[in-house]
Amino acid sequence: MRPMQTSTPHYDVIIIGAGAAGLMCAAEAGKRGRQVLLLDKADKVGKKILISGGGRCNFTNLYTNPAAYLSQNPHFCKSALARFTPQDFLELMRKHHLSWTEKTLGQLFCEQKAPAVVNMLWAECCEAGVALRLNTDVSDISHTDNHFQVQTSQGAQTATALVIATGGPSIPRMGSTDFGIRVAKQFELKNIPFSPALVPFTFSQEMLDGLFAGLAGISTEVAASCGSGQFRENLLFTHRGLSGPAMLQISSYWNKGEAVEINLLPGRDALAWLQALQKQRPKAELKTALAEVLPSRLAQRLCETLFPNRPLGQYGGKALQAIAQQLQAWQLTPTGTEGMRTAEVCLGGVDTRELSSRTMEARKVPGLYFIGETVDVTGWLGGYNFQWAWASGWCAGQCV
Ligand code: FDA
Repeated sequence: MRPMQTSTPHYDVIIIGAGAAGLMCAAEAGKRGRQVLLLDKADKVGKKILISGGGRCNFTNLYTNPAAYLSQNPHFCKSALARFTPQDFLELMRKHHLSWTEKTLGQLFCEQKAPAVVNMLWAECCEAGVALRLNTDVSDISHTDNHFQVQTSQGAQTATALVIATGGPSIPRMGSTDFGIRVAKQFELKNIPFSPALVPFTFSQEMLDGLFAGLAGISTEVAASCGSGQFRENLLFTHRGLSGPAMLQISSYWNKGEAVEINLLPGRDALAWLQALQKQRPKAELKTALAEVLPSRLAQRLCETLFPNRPLGQYGGKALQAIAQQLQAWQLTPTGTEGMRTAEVCLGGVDTRELSSRTMEARKVPGLYFIGETVDVTGWLGGYNFQWAWASGWCAGQCV
């Protein structure tokens, strides 16, 4: 049944947010014959897709599994990820004659670059008859008689189903906001406040001028751990502190005040290695030995600040043990992170206990859906976040 005000255009579905999740949901709903209006305040669709993966869009990960996602309810993502898999997205890519390359750790990048992924999703929307309105700000949402009325800078529209696909507030200069949480609050749905994730760490000026001095730009493979997270990837020293995939990954598990543990020699028993070297080359300096397994500038800096640099033969057993311990369980306490300004994604969002894991519909508000990053499901670095956006968008698209 249509609402009383005949002058207000009515749709089956209004989707707010034409990003990764919103585009997928719109195409799927449109294919089912639903009349869909896709709204975005930006001047083009899929802006975060366009800048993703260094412009090549790391669009999925072959090893997608629920363990790669953080959420207060770790089971929530299972259903959607099982129903729309990386293989399903690859099927769509094949249909549009797009190809991909696998980088490390199952990360798939689009060979035709990020704009091709956006064009593909938009082509699917066009084929499905989706109406699009860009540069459109939403000022008010109301819900009466089982209809949603959305007041926008381009007039009012009504719909039977409303999908919130506005992402999270990371990179505010792109216009990102916490709109999703505000809508959840309006409908009295619980939420977990957004906080930055996949974000570089910052350190005190004392550390930057001391231990880290002259190291900006140096990268080395480490095993980093904090809380329940552990990742073996590259660490990058920056002018502000530490970044690189290992640090971005571990930032999602870090709480202010905690130390991050860094193993500078992953896959190696540092003490056994040092003891063997001590026997073989007692005159070799520690700095020289470390430079054989670490970037030389880092080896030198460690020997200027953390370890006394001597010929290996001059270290006693306890001193060697202490060096090995530092190398394999280096405890570093960041002062903070670079925050939303550079965070790739956000932790938090609409509390998943409020949503159906099959459809993403709010249990208390039939017809209201939340998908993508607005939901409290956050993936690891490496294509996992897009896979969640596709999967949650696809699931909602099957039933709106
Ligand atoms: P997304 O942010 O894509 O879309 C939200 C849309 O809603 C936007 O178009 C926005 O304009 C719109 N919107 C917001 N508020 C609104 C309002 N009030 N009214 C109307 N419209 C509104 N992930 C990954 O898996 N692989 C990768 O390679 C990368 N790379 C990457 C690089 C960088 C620099 C960033 C910042 C992020 C990534 N990501 C990533 C993360 C990925 O971009 C992110 O997880 C998804 O885009 C989330 O998809 P959503 O559709 O939920 O939000």
